[in-house]
Amino acid sequence: MTDHSEKTEVDVSDILNAAGIACKGIIIEQEPGMYPHKKRISDNWSYFTAATFRHLYAEHNASPSSVAIVGIGNGIEGSAAVRAFPSSLKTLYISDVDEGVVAGASRNIRRNLPKRSRVKIEPFIGSFCEPLVERGVRADIVFANIPNLPAAQGADLSGGAEKGTFLRPELYEGYHPPQKYIKWALGAQYAYLMSAKDALTERGSVFTEVGGRVPLALLSELFEETGYRAEEVLVGFKEQTEPLIDFLGYRAFEEEYGVAFDFYKYEPALATLEEFGKGNIIQESGEVCKTALERHRVTAGEAVQLFHRQVAVGHTVHIIKGTKRKL
Ligand SMILES: C[S@@+](CC[C@H](N)C(=O)[O-])C[C@H]1O[C@@H](n2cnc3c(N)ncnc32)[C@H](O)[C@@H]1O
Repeated sequence: MTDHSEKTEVDVSDILNAAGIACKGIIIEQEPGMYPHKKRISDNWSYFTAATFRHLYAEHNASPSSVAIVGIGNGIEGSAAVRAFPSSLKTLYISDVDEGVVAGASRNIRRNLPKRSRVKIEPFIGSFCEPLVERGVRADIVFANIPNLPAAQGADLSGGAEKGTFLRPELYEGYHPPQKYIKWALGAQYAYLMSAKDALTERGSVFTEVGGRVPLALLSELFEETGYRAEEVLVGFKEQTEPLIDFLGYRAFEEEYGVAFDFYKYEPALATLEEFGKGNIIQESGEVCKTALERHRVTAGEAVQLFHRQVAVGHTVHIIKGTKRKL
């Protein structure tokens, strides 16, 4: 459950504006149980989400009449969707495993609806796309940025940072993700993609926003194997937020399964990426980006050491679109 004791109001217009969605006065109430808003724009996953929505509208002529955002957090991504698809969007479905998060996000999105907006906000509580599927709801765009790391048994997930980093493994185990995904901490991604199949309209697309700490070929395989044709939509780079719990979580996978994740020293990596255009959104493919960053690469184990020396470490960000393959 969410702790409502210390709510703060935050103006998040700068995130949407930086993503190309012109607006002002988008104020959200941030609750301690919600995934935390970060001051620096590029530290927010929602910045990359908003940039994706804008890109879909401006470059792909996307005109969804329904969008579902799974793992909604504070709701800013809902406000981004409403403003990115101003004339087409009729219904915005939002969901999260946490009841308090859904209620708070719902309030935040409603209070920021543009005047005269007729977009219907429909909230759901539950895991992945399950609550949508249970109600027979389908959307043109299903989007999620869900946690990858399994929570330890009995772990306290009441804080927003933990909620954004960990999920109960029981939520994805029922989908029986193959071991090659489990060992790269992609079990939840597998489950999300599987669950989305019955939540898409006939021409709908599923989107995942995921840190590129894993081999990109494995992400393509994941889409393929769960029944989609994959297409890279946006590539970015961000500092690892909630750094220590994430590094320790991924290091545990390195130790258990002998894998090695891709993190990068943040400052030199960002300087290298300047050749692809300024800022944290990269005008190049994920593969080109990761190849260029190779010399700054560190494992999760090394990232733990760097954290203790106060050296910032980041990872690439990938927004991948899946369209159902015809059987
Ligand atoms: C990293 S946060 C992202 C929040 C929001 N998308 C943003 O960028 O601000 C992940 C969110 O997913 C939610 N979540 C975790 N596991 C989930 C699941 N199995 N199904 C749906 N939501 C989940 C968490 O409660 C959290 O709000």
